[in-house]
Amino acid sequence: MINIAKTEKSALQDLSRAKTTAELENLQTKYLGRKSELSLFLRSLKGLPPGERARSGQIANELRRKLETEMGNKAQQLKEAELARKIEQEKIDVTAPGRRVEHGHLHPLTIVRHEIEDIFRSMGFDIVEGPEVETEWYNFDALNVPADHPARDMQDTFWLKQSPEAQKDPHTHLLPRTHTSAVQVRYMEKHQPPFRIIVPGKCFRNEATDATHEMQFHTFEGLMVGKDISLANLKGVLRFFANKFFKDEVEVKFNASYFPYTEPSVEVFLKGRKGKLKDRWIEMAGAGMVNQKVFQSAGYVQGEYQGFAFGMTIDRLAMFKYGIDDIRLLYGSDLRFLKQF
Ligand code: DAH
Repeated sequence: MINIAKTEKSALQDLSRAKTTAELENLQTKYLGRKSELSLFLRSLKGLPPGERARSGQIANELRRKLETEMGNKAQQLKEAELARKIEQEKIDVTAPGRRVEHGHLHPLTIVRHEIEDIFRSMGFDIVEGPEVETEWYNFDALNVPADHPARDMQDTFWLKQSPEAQKDPHTHLLPRTHTSAVQVRYMEKHQPPFRIIVPGKCFRNEATDATHEMQFHTFEGLMVGKDISLANLKGVLRFFANKFFKDEVEVKFNASYFPYTEPSVEVFLKGRKGKLKDRWIEMAGAGMVNQKVFQSAGYVQGEYQGFAFGMTIDRLAMFKYGIDDIRLLYGSDLRFLKQF
């Protein structure tokens, strides 16, 4: 004989505490399984007198049905709860805004350099590079700027610390190059005309830093040499470049000037037709016809060739293009600035 009321109470209590399907399955075994008290009791009824058997059987069967129903409900409930939990856990909010992937990009100076290279490449120019540490020879002497020439004062030079003997010889005396013009003779020693090149690169000068001056800056040199290259070719090339680069918004003019490595020499100015450059003549480049003395440094036969050269500051072009008013921003690594490009 079992205590029906007690069994029911304990079963319902256990049931109410069950939190998982696995726990529920244990309870089903415990209360309704073949070896449960209730099953054993129902099987033992056979031995009872008929009257008692019917009564006890009815009560026990009622409890069994009740527990079956309760457990069935609970099973359904747990299944739904578990499904809901699973859905919640695996939920993907397709309307959530995407997470921004941080990826780097090119520096504005690199973007502008690539643009310049593309424009000159389209005119058949090769892109050439030279060393940032130069000899005094390539940077000055080979370009017709001897030691006592006043033109050397046009550029404030950093010099590398060297022995007194090394400093005496322009072929061993070293400096961070002050201009990409230093690559002119280096290139011409190894190549015979005709050729046309541009040489982008970093230059260094001992300057007080302000909004328009940096100790480091980028320039690119142009050099086109052949049998009959003329000033008209220089003007055409620079006009073409300026209008491509500034998208047909500029006027270009050439003023007489002086550089030791060109004769005649010009300064190139440009003026915008609209926008930031409107009605302002801005110096864009130094240029001219290559001085025969420079060809002589390269070992060319005198009078055999003529060509033009020019030098332009990439930083200035970038500043005008993007409306940047302080060159120091280009070297400051400030992400708030750099992220705008
Ligand atoms: N080297 C000059 C400078 O740094 C720029 C320049 C002027 C380059 C005239 C040239 C040139 O090739 O012909 O200011």
